Amino acid sequence: MESSALQHIEQICGRLQDSSAALEDAHFDAALEAASAERATALLSPYLPSRARSIAEFLQIVPLRWSFFILRGAHGCKVNCRLIHTLVRTFDSEEDVLLDIGCGDGRVALACRTATGCGTVGVDVSPLCIAAAVQAEEQLLEKGAEGKCVWILGDVLDPKEHEREEIKSATVCYLYVYPTLLARLEDVIRRMLVDEEFKLKKVVTVEYHFENFACTEEVGFLRVYEASGALGATASLA
Ligand SMILES: C[S@@+](CC[C@H](N)C(=O)[O-])C[C@H]1O[C@@H](n2cnc3c(N)ncnc32)[C@H](O)[C@@H]1O
Repeated sequence: MESSALQHIEQICGRLQDSSAALEDAHFDAALEAASAERATALLSPYLPSRARSIAEFLQIVPLRWSFFILRGAHGCKVNCRLIHTLVRTFDSEEDVLLDIGCGDGRVALACRTATGCGTVGVDVSPLCIAAAVQAEEQLLEKGAEGKCVWILGDVLDPKEHEREEIKSATVCYLYVYPTLLARLEDVIRRMLVDEEFKLKKVVTVEYHFENFACTEEVGFLRVYEASGALGATASLA
């Protein structure tokens, strides 16, 4: 990761610091309560923001195609970069779409989108979080950022949400959620990795990891999972 990319991510995270402290307070008790309730399917992980370094490491181990960032650096001309990006998109249907499950205030999606130009989908069950993400995005757009993320207010455990085209088109998934939600997500993620209806190829967990999947790579606090390890093998690096 180039140091300017890390600085860029740190700027986005820094700007969100005050509002995210309020989100943390509002979510923690509600999440604990929901997790202990029988058959609870709502707020199953408290809100805590990812650190800038985790987002930078994520971008290093899962390079998202196509990169606005690299094109900008190489050509130094925004208009040409947009043109190149449009052409590249036209000829290559393999552009990555990042899905951030439990997106919180949207910092991961926003940082990845502005750093690489990838498509981004953020889903969160908390209206406060989605409102914060929309607001953060508006501020970035005012400052000249390009492209919009898709924000979905919904429970990721609700099968109706999995039928959305935006979710089906995701190729890479970022998962920083507590074990209370992660354990219930195993079946959902397994299906997304192996069912041809979904385009998902890689899932990255941060700090908390799947108990029943073998990961294909481990870097710092991050683990990468692919279809090969999602078929029920016990996590070899757990
Ligand atoms: C640890 S925070 C991660 C926030 C963000 N991804 C980041 O890395 O900065 C976990 C998020 O999961 C969300 N969440 C909890 N239960 C959920 C559910 N059932 N469906 C969707 N999101 C959920 C919470 O509202 C919270 O924002």
